[in-house]
Amino acid sequence: MTLADLKAIVRTVPDFPAPGVQFRDITTLIGHGAGFAAAVGHLAGRARSAGAQAIAGMEARGFIFGAAVAVQLGVGFVPVRKPGKLPAATIGVDYALEYGSDRLEVDPDAIAAGTSVVIVDDLIATGGTALAAAALLRKAGASVPIALFVIDLPDLGGAERLRADGIAVDALMQFE
Ligand code: PRP
Ligand code: HPA
Repeated sequence: MTLADLKAIVRTVPDFPAPGVQFRDITTLIGHGAGFAAAVGHLAGRARSAGAQAIAGMEARGFIFGAAVAVQLGVGFVPVRKPGKLPAATIGVDYALEYGSDRLEVDPDAIAAGTSVVIVDDLIATGGTALAAAALLRKAGASVPIALFVIDLPDLGGAERLRADGIAVDALMQFE
């Protein structure tokens, strides 16, 4: 299945979560067996080329793709979670949203120092989520060579922000 085929399976929902927003929705992609498998296969190939020793995914949609990629590579998965979910000692980072702020947490015991961890998420918009995840993974002793996404929204500048922070970015498709 080509990347153009995969792009055609992503649904666009108008006016969600606010009027005027065109929401790129992966529900239709992950509900398509061949499409989901192909998307995971493309991401896994890129993660393997980058030398991934572990995969990190952000709650919740990053878990869907990240865990599947980790299984394909036979490496561990690091969950980057919303606050208050992890039971052991955590490290966390607060980050700005368009309106307000949010927080992500990881369990540092989930990452061996010096591990090369590849970030996987469904979508990059402003890049705030991925930058926060990378900061946490680095704080836990990992290196983060690349972040992989199914969808990039380049107009929102996230990929550029990650590259400015020394993280390569790759995505299977872009929507203007
Ligand atoms: C979405 C998406 C990314 C993030 C991208 O997650 O899955 O993680 O937003 O936005 P950014 O690049 O501007 O940070 P969301 O916070 O909606 O959570 P969900 O996965 O639980 O739906
Ligand atoms: N789709 C899914 N998640 C998002 C989007 C989108 O278009 N924009 C910001 N987060």
